[in-house]
Amino acid sequence: MDFIAQDNRYEKMPYRRCGRSGVSLPVLSVGLWHNFGGVDEFETGREIIRYAFDQGVTHFDLANNYGPPPGSAESNFGKILKKDLKPYRDELIISTKAGYLMWPGPYGDNGSRKYLLASLDQSLNRMNLDYVDIFYSHRYDPLTPLEETMGALAQAVRSGKALYAGISNYPPDETLEAARILAEMGTPCLIHQVKYSLFKREAEDGLAAVLREKMIGCIAFSPLAQGLLTDRYLHGIPADSRAAKPHGFLKTDQITPDIQSVVIKLNSIATELGLTLAELALNWVKSHDFITSVLIGISSKQQLQTNLRILDLPDFTQDQINKINSCLT
Ligand SMILES: NC(=O)c1ccc[n+]([C@@H]2O[C@H](COP(=O)([O-])OP(=O)(O)OC[C@H]3O[C@@H](n4cnc5c(N)ncnc54)[C@H](OP(=O)(O)O)[C@@H]3O)[C@@H](O)[C@H]2O)c1
Repeated sequence: MDFIAQDNRYEKMPYRRCGRSGVSLPVLSVGLWHNFGGVDEFETGREIIRYAFDQGVTHFDLANNYGPPPGSAESNFGKILKKDLKPYRDELIISTKAGYLMWPGPYGDNGSRKYLLASLDQSLNRMNLDYVDIFYSHRYDPLTPLEETMGALAQAVRSGKALYAGISNYPPDETLEAARILAEMGTPCLIHQVKYSLFKREAEDGLAAVLREKMIGCIAFSPLAQGLLTDRYLHGIPADSRAAKPHGFLKTDQITPDIQSVVIKLNSIATELGLTLAELALNWVKSHDFITSVLIGISSKQQLQTNLRILDLPDFTQDQINKINSCLT
């Protein structure tokens, strides 16, 4: 049956302005790193994307290598676009990236102009799109001049194959320099995609200040620490969880007794506040002023429904944040 989006899809989701740009992002965005690849159930992924769009999630994040196999998340997303979302293309912010290993030989990895521009063409082919909204350099490459990597992003924008340029996983000083070069080229840095959660707070050490000062948007990835900051692993390792899957990036040895004891403490604070642990962890990220959007992964529609409940929550006060943070020390 043809998909017709809900008329009320924009009633609930707040949108935050992305840095100094004209574009806004939903407070919750959905990423396709896990659960949307060739090894996954296509119809489950399709149901999640359709439901997300109906709830006002306008931003879907991909990368060339998402799968497995690499590329398959983009191919599957292309199929979902074709079946369901093509009429809504102008209501979507679709991003992709290049920077990690994608194909063999010297030109399928890191930050060269050769790799980035070829990869963008491949991504557009897989998704059957004329352009993506955001094209990212997926990581800083110390062996390639920043002028070359940023030049490739700027060319992607000038050629119309991307509307905005972004960077991901860049340290603070390199972020400043990348932003300076991009601004000089007339294609400002729209956004930085950074790992940020209760368990990964390095962004607070310098990067957040750079993003504030330069008015660059910030989208936080792995806000649930790949599922650790949920009730998923409170009682062992469920068979259908990321940690149990051979291709999952979360490994069982990351679920240490120390982590579990912090998770139990956080879970009891969540219970005191009448929240699930996932809601607490997501609302904690959302409550920081340098965050434009919280970029979640999900393996089911039910998880998305739970996570969307943070739209009803006010941002945590500084006292609440301090109390939550005190579990981590
Ligand atoms: N730029 C980069 O270098 C980079 C790196 C990593 C990720 N990303 C982006 O960030 C996105 C999100 O990353 P992520 O998937 O690691 O995010 P995450 O939100 O930290 O973790 C997602 C996982 O948490 C579990 N989960 C989610 N909601 C839940 C709930 N309500 N209750 C219980 N468990 C729940 C699910 O695990 P199960 O699968 O076990 O159910 C889900 O797969 C990616 O898709 C990608 O777009 C970017």
